[in-house]
Amino acid sequence: MAKHTHAAAVAIGALLIGAFLAGRETGAAWSKEEIAQLESLWIGSQPPLPADPSNRVADDPRAGAFGQALFFDTRLSANGQVACATCHLPERQFQDDRARARGIGDATRRTMPLAGIAQGAWFFWDGRKDSLWSQALGPLENAMEHGTDRTRVLHLVREHHRASYEAVFGPMPATGPLPQGAGPQSDEAGRAAWRALPETDRVAINTVFANVGKSIAAYERRIRFAPSRFDRYAEAVLSGSEPGAEAQLTTDERAGLKLFIGRAQCVQCHNGPSFSDLHFHNTGVPAVKNLPADEGRAQAVAAVLDDEFNCLGPYSDAQPSQCAELRFMSKDTPRLTRAYKAPTLRNVALRPPYMHAGQLGTLEDVLNHYSRAPPAPAGRSELEPLLLSRREQHQLIAFLNTLSGPVVIAPETEPQTLQSRAIAWSIE
Ligand code: HEC
Ligand code: HEC
Repeated sequence: MAKHTHAAAVAIGALLIGAFLAGRETGAAWSKEEIAQLESLWIGSQPPLPADPSNRVADDPRAGAFGQALFFDTRLSANGQVACATCHLPERQFQDDRARARGIGDATRRTMPLAGIAQGAWFFWDGRKDSLWSQALGPLENAMEHGTDRTRVLHLVREHHRASYEAVFGPMPATGPLPQGAGPQSDEAGRAAWRALPETDRVAINTVFANVGKSIAAYERRIRFAPSRFDRYAEAVLSGSEPGAEAQLTTDERAGLKLFIGRAQCVQCHNGPSFSDLHFHNTGVPAVKNLPADEGRAQAVAAVLDDEFNCLGPYSDAQPSQCAELRFMSKDTPRLTRAYKAPTLRNVALRPPYMHAGQLGTLEDVLNHYSRAPPAPAGRSELEPLLLSRREQHQLIAFLNTLSGPVVIAPETEPQTLQSRAIAWSIE
C-alpha cells in the first residue's frame, strides 16, 4: 500500500517536472519532419490560384467589379430582399453564423465561408458544382435561396447592369419578347414558358446567365485569408529565429499543434495552407432529425455530370482536355455516402456552429466527436476513435484558436512572389 503511494508520488513528481520543462521549451523543439509539416501549413506556401480555363474572365478586373455589384444586389431575388451577401456576410468571413441558412425559405445546410475557396476544384458541401461560376448559378434558381429565374436575371442585367456587362462580354444578345418567371428550375408554369421559347432565345438567356456566374466568380476569387498568429510563428520557426511576442504560441497551443500534425492526425484531411485537402470524407457526423435524407458526395456525382453548366458543357470556355477533375472524378458512391468537403480550419474558432448542417455547436463538441468517432448514420466513417484526454482536447482547441486572422479582398494585381504576397497581406 505504502509502496504504491510512493510510486504514485514519484510519478506525479516526474509529471510536474515534465510539465515544467515543457513550459520552458521554445520553438526550437520541433523535429525536421515536424518543421516540414509546419511549412506545408504556412500561408506562405499557398500556391498561386489555379487558373480556371472554363471561365475566360476569371481574372479580369472589370468582371470582378461587375461580379461584386451582383454579389450585393438584392434585386437578384424573388422578393427583392436576398443577395449573396445576405448569407455570405463580408464582415462575418462571408458566412452567417447559422446552423442552417435562411433566404426566401429555410435551407438544409450551413452557409460556407468563402475565403480561399478558389484553391479547390469542387463547390458546396457535396461538391455538386465543378467551378465557382457554375456554383453561383445554383442559389439564384434555388427556391429557398434567391428564388429567381433566368429570364428575370436577363431583365435585371439589361435594365441595371448593361454597361458593366457589355464592357466585359460585348453586346448583350437580342431576344424576342420574354415572359417573366421562365426557367428550367421554375414552377410548372415557368418551366412550360421556358420550353415554349425558341432555342436561340434559350441559348442567349443561358449565355447571359453563365456570364453573371463568371463575373461573380471573378470577385470571389479575390476573397483570401491573411496571415494568422500560427503563420507568424511558423515563419519564425522556418527562418530559425526566436518568435517575437506577436508570433509566440503558448505551451498549450504548441502542444495542440504537435497533436494536430502528430498523434491526432488531423492533417490527414486538414492539410496544406488551406488546412483542407478540399476533398470529401465521411466523418460520421450525425444526421439532423426532420431534414430530408442527405447522402453527401454520393448524390452529387450524377448532378455534376448532368449539369449543363459544368466544365464540359456548352457554356464553358475550357477545352475538354482541361476538364480532368470532372472527367476523372471518383464515382465510388458507396464510399462517398455522407462524405462532405473538408472545410478550411482557418478562422474556425470565430464561426460556430460546425459541420455541414451546424450539427455541433462548439469546438468542445467537435473534439469530443473526433475523440469518440461514432459510427456514421449511413456509409462508413473514416475516423478511428482518438480517445483524447480532456487536456489534449483543450490543447487542440487552443491551437485552432491560433488560426484566426483577417479575411481580405486581394488587390487586382498581385505581388509576384509568395513571400512578398504574405508580407503585403500582413500590412492590411
Ligand atoms: C440563403 C442563403 C444563401 C444565399 C442567398 C447564397 N448562399 Fe452560398 N451557400 C449557402 C449554403 C447553405 C451553402 C452550402 C449549400 C450546400 O452545400 O448545399 C452555400 C455554399 C456556397 C459556396 C460554396 C463554397 C465552397 O467552399 O464550396 C459558394 C461559392 C457560395 N455559396 C456562393 C454564393 C453566391 C455567389 C451567392 C449569390 C449568387 C450565394 N452563395 C447565395 C447559403 C447561401
Ligand atoms: C478523415 C478526414 C478528416 C480528419 C482526419 C479530420 N477531419 Fe475535421 N473535418 C473533416 C470533414 C469532412 C469535415 C466536415 C464534415 C461535415 O460537415 O459533415 C470536418 C470538419 C471539421 C471541423 C468543423 C469545421 C466547420 O467549419 O464546420 C473542425 C473544427 C475540424 N474538422 C477539426 C478537426 C480536427 C481538430 C481534427 C483532428 C483531431 C480533424 N478535424 C480530423 C475531415 C476530417
